[in-house]
Amino acid sequence: TGYITHDPGFVNTGAASSAITYIDGDAGILRYRGYPIEQLAQKSTFIEVSYLLIYGELPTKTQLDDFTEKIQRHTLLHEDLKAFFSGFPRDAHPMPVLSSAVSALSTFYQDSLNPFDEPNVELSTIRLLAKVPTLAAYAYKKSVGQPLLYPDNSLGLVENFLRMTFGFPAEPYEVDPEVAKALDLLFILHADHEQNCSTSTVRLVGSSEANLFASISAGINALFGPLHGGANAAVLDMLEGIKNDGGDVANFVSRVKNKEKGVKLMGFGHRVYKNYDPRAKIIKNTADEILGKIAGGDELLDIAKKLEETALSDDYFVERKLYPNVDFYTGLIYRALGFPTKYFTVLFALGRLPGWIAHWREMIQDPATKIGRPRQIYTGETERDYTPLEQR
Ligand code: CMC
Repeated sequence: TGYITHDPGFVNTGAASSAITYIDGDAGILRYRGYPIEQLAQKSTFIEVSYLLIYGELPTKTQLDDFTEKIQRHTLLHEDLKAFFSGFPRDAHPMPVLSSAVSALSTFYQDSLNPFDEPNVELSTIRLLAKVPTLAAYAYKKSVGQPLLYPDNSLGLVENFLRMTFGFPAEPYEVDPEVAKALDLLFILHADHEQNCSTSTVRLVGSSEANLFASISAGINALFGPLHGGANAAVLDMLEGIKNDGGDVANFVSRVKNKEKGVKLMGFGHRVYKNYDPRAKIIKNTADEILGKIAGGDELLDIAKKLEETALSDDYFVERKLYPNVDFYTGLIYRALGFPTKYFTVLFALGRLPGWIAHWREMIQDPATKIGRPRQIYTGETERDYTPLEQR
């Protein structure tokens, strides 16, 4: 019709039909393929949830064993890909290191370029699920200047990742089952969240028929930003800032309310949830337990709880329906598990990976998919004549 709806931030634009994840933001409900997040958090595992998101159903025992084994067989990287890690500056942020390495997978697996070749899409899916944890561990090793470890395929996905991250080549590494369980839970909670910024990016890039690796690499870059995945690190910086200022939570909250430049209550607010984020609820309930067991309590957790309590009883936050989101408590747990702040967003990416893959596959198979190409409302100059350089 020629009529353009102006919708900055796509607040009111449904870009796709999807059968993967259901969110009711007012009621604080999140379900993957119909299963409530609370049940999956309690009863499932990250690998099973990955299968559920990608293939649509919970696996049978045989399907799960087969899926697990396939992933275990693909964890190794091509030796030439490892050379990438020596090319980056040592203090490089691990997110762009990860997205570059994922992008490079297209060069190592040129059989992946046709998005409609189903057996190869399947292979790319397994390769990503298997190799991204290896890449993520190497991004960490690079940042601390330690040698890279080959994967140990007798271990599960999360255990293997922890060993490659924190272990040393010639030394045995005992995976702490509490740590592995906590990380597995966090990965489940991050595994999908319908049309968020990074998933929409994956779908948009994929809509041009770019392959899975290129699309996921773009998603990782979208997740890097502090308003999206980068918020988990920003929350920890915020909590540490409050602690260093003497723990004055009320003063921080009033700076947020006065909209001081660059001062936001990180880990609060959500485009869709106008209620407590159900993921944050689960994390909060387990944070005490996990932090108590692993770190023996945490001063920053006390500040976080006080901050939450102050905000939830303040009109500014109540009127705007701002509640803690998934990132509010995750950073504290990641820190207790031994990860540096800079690395938190990489953990979000590991968790979100199966969701991105599921959406890309759904998008590519959907006959209604068209290349994403929004319109604009032009606000620039109308037509004018070129002025020669000497007359300007
Ligand atoms: N602290 C203070 N004020 C806030 C916050 C916050 N965290 N979030 C929203 N507001 C205010 C905002 O200033 C606006 O106020 P006003 O009506 O006076 O202009 C009002 O609430 C509505 O906010 P909005 O910016 O229009 O909301 P949005 O849907 O565009 O943004 C958001 C959503 C998540 C980007 C935003 O809430 C935010 O920046 N939060 C902090 C960053 C964060 O925690 N991000 C993680 C999101 S969850 C995980 C993920 O998806 O990655």
